[in-house]
Amino acid sequence: MPAPAAEPHLFVVFGATGDLMQRKLLPALFHLREQGLFPAGSLILGVARHPLDDATFRTTSAQSLVSAVPDRAAGAPAFCAATVFYYGLTAETADGYRALRGRIEQLETEHHLSGNRIFYLALPLEAFGPTLEGLGGAGLNRGPGWTRVVIEKPFGRDLRSAEALNRIAHQHFEEKQLYRIDHYLGKETVQNLLVFRFANAFVESDWNRERVEQVEITVAESLGVEGRAGYYETSGALRDMIQNHVTQVLALVAMEPPARRNEDDIRDEKVKVLRSAQALGPDDVVRGQYTAGTIAGTPVPGYREEPGVSSTSTTETYLALRLKIANWRWQDVPFFLRTGKRLPEKSSRVVVTFKAPPVSFFQNESEYRQSPDRLTILIQPEEGFEIAFEIKVPGREMRVQTHRMKFHYADVFGPLPDGYEMLVQDVMIGDASLFVRADEVEESWRLYAPILEHPTPLVFYAAGSDGPESAQKLVEGWGHRWSAD
Ligand code: BG6
Repeated sequence: MPAPAAEPHLFVVFGATGDLMQRKLLPALFHLREQGLFPAGSLILGVARHPLDDATFRTTSAQSLVSAVPDRAAGAPAFCAATVFYYGLTAETADGYRALRGRIEQLETEHHLSGNRIFYLALPLEAFGPTLEGLGGAGLNRGPGWTRVVIEKPFGRDLRSAEALNRIAHQHFEEKQLYRIDHYLGKETVQNLLVFRFANAFVESDWNRERVEQVEITVAESLGVEGRAGYYETSGALRDMIQNHVTQVLALVAMEPPARRNEDDIRDEKVKVLRSAQALGPDDVVRGQYTAGTIAGTPVPGYREEPGVSSTSTTETYLALRLKIANWRWQDVPFFLRTGKRLPEKSSRVVVTFKAPPVSFFQNESEYRQSPDRLTILIQPEEGFEIAFEIKVPGREMRVQTHRMKFHYADVFGPLPDGYEMLVQDVMIGDASLFVRADEVEESWRLYAPILEHPTPLVFYAAGSDGPESAQKLVEGWGHRWSAD
């Protein structure tokens, strides 16, 4: 089914001079315009504290676009000249927001826009509340057309702050106006989880405690903190990756089929998964931090030696945890989650390991466990899935061998678009299915509250290694092991 067409609107980005706007949003908007999906007549208004004029902002925006999409650089200056405007919000006061409203209305009148508005908050956490209040106070929460607000992550630092932020948001906006973004939900391979599960009846019939031995979700990165120490020191792997991206993947893997394919039915089912998760205890978690090591032959410093990081920092750059989902489908099936920076390579994947056949003629239980039947859902950088299953090696002798069958998106469809593009387009057409609802974000903070409130001691791993050894023990403690691939 083709997506409905978006209506012309004003796309206002707070934090417009920041990295996200320049690296992700502008290229996404540019590409959407090229495809006719960012409707003609729509404009972009960048808002930030710096007192810049339109011309200067257009020049830097065009430069960013040229480096982001060098193959299509020729169209970048004309796109910026015709579409991009700037407003310096030098005073974040009620008067400042009223003046911003004046500028918005002026632009809409001059360019014959009917008052549909998107406010994209590409801002740090502490700026979300004041910006939502500023918008509400200036009457920018309701316009002559529709008004939608996109809020970047992190949505809070814990349950209390997320609840407080939701309260502020709901004082000024209705939930259906709010789009809490998690860019993992924009990845084709993450969305494909729903299609793979619910469009293939044979998958669903094996997707349960009768057939599944364990589920693991890994999001590994070889990068370190990349100059973001200020943010990362107050965040760590749990807040940066697990509470949002990894938990979203978990919810999609474990949810029940929704009653209908609409935003609330899908999100209702995701929330139920989080509510069914059993409380986490200190034994269920391993918190690690990388020390100096080598990645792809290049020596890299330890986390505590990174610029801007305290030499006694206890921020985790790795987190592994085990949990159970106490519901009819998953009771007693272990879910293992892990993420880390400075691991040997970037690799995000879900591995579902299936139980041994109840009676086996060809392998005994321990042989099967060496190479069980397994489905690997590749999220990135390879995108697709692989199924490992047993085959007979041809010949008189009865020898069994594991074979892998592969589907890689790139082989069939070529490179996949950036997740931001899809999410931005969804906001334009008003589809919130791939955005996180208020109760969902609160449930995920609630799930991790015990380990946020009582962090376990840190263990160390060398950059370029597979992470702390105790992560293996965490899984072995429940009689399992991480898959090697
Ligand atoms: C971001 C985190 O949300 O996701 C980063 O803040 C992380 O620390 C990034 O590197 C990973 O995203 P992706 O799409 O490269 O897996």
